[in-house]
Amino acid sequence: MESLTAIEKRHSVRRYIDKEIDNKILTELKAEIDECNKVSGLHIQLITNEPKAFDSIIAHYGRFKGVCNYIALVGKKGADFDEKSGYYGERIVLKAQMLGLNTCWVAVTFSKKAARKAVDIEQDEVLGCVIALGYGETQGVARKSKPMEELGKTDVQAPDWFIKGMEAAMLAPTATNQQKFLITLSEGKVTAEATGGVCRKVDLGIVKYHFEIGSGKKL
Ligand SMILES: Cc1cc2nc3c(=O)[nH]c(=O)nc-3n(C[C@H](O)[C@H](O)[C@H](O)COP(=O)(O)O)c2cc1C
Repeated sequence: MESLTAIEKRHSVRRYIDKEIDNKILTELKAEIDECNKVSGLHIQLITNEPKAFDSIIAHYGRFKGVCNYIALVGKKGADFDEKSGYYGERIVLKAQMLGLNTCWVAVTFSKKAARKAVDIEQDEVLGCVIALGYGETQGVARKSKPMEELGKTDVQAPDWFIKGMEAAMLAPTATNQQKFLITLSEGKVTAEATGGVCRKVDLGIVKYHFEIGSGKKL
């Protein structure tokens, strides 16, 4: 499966079956995480067989079931942490999808207290979002998107690569599906910005990663 197919197939999945992730798949996923940490300087970790972070009232309220594995987005405190964690976290999400796993980004509906006990967080580091991971009861469902004209602007007739980038960006997960971003092509240069909302910087990193895959251009 290619990244673009993974973008099309990925939907948030909150209910998981009781099945351990194969070792071969775990090894491949860990290799991707190691690579992301190497290029980004983040300290992303794969936590397996740890049900406590999703065994709280808040997680059940968030409709999660059977989550025993997650990816913890950890890194040095700093202005760029949120966006970076979005960008590299989504790279790992798409890799997981390609490996036959399901995922869901989680900023709120998990127990941070329980997760902190399982995750290695150095003194100068923070734990951001986690990404629930496993074999879903279902593959999730497609959801609505804002129209492309609301999320992208161009000063010329939109080229094909920009439209492909926008289509991938529209499929990017955002907190509460808020899609508060704007991608602009002006004088031959593409920029992406967050236009508000919670987790806006994490969302922006995710959206940028999708746009790059769809358009084939670096942002
Ligand atoms: C940064 C971020 C934080 C999120 N936090 C939560 C959360 O706390 N609880 C939850 O159930 N879903 C959470 N989600 C999942 C979104 O609700 C979901 O991605 C969005 O509704 C779009 O649906 P899709 O992922 O199926 O495309 C989060 C998503 C993102 C990107």
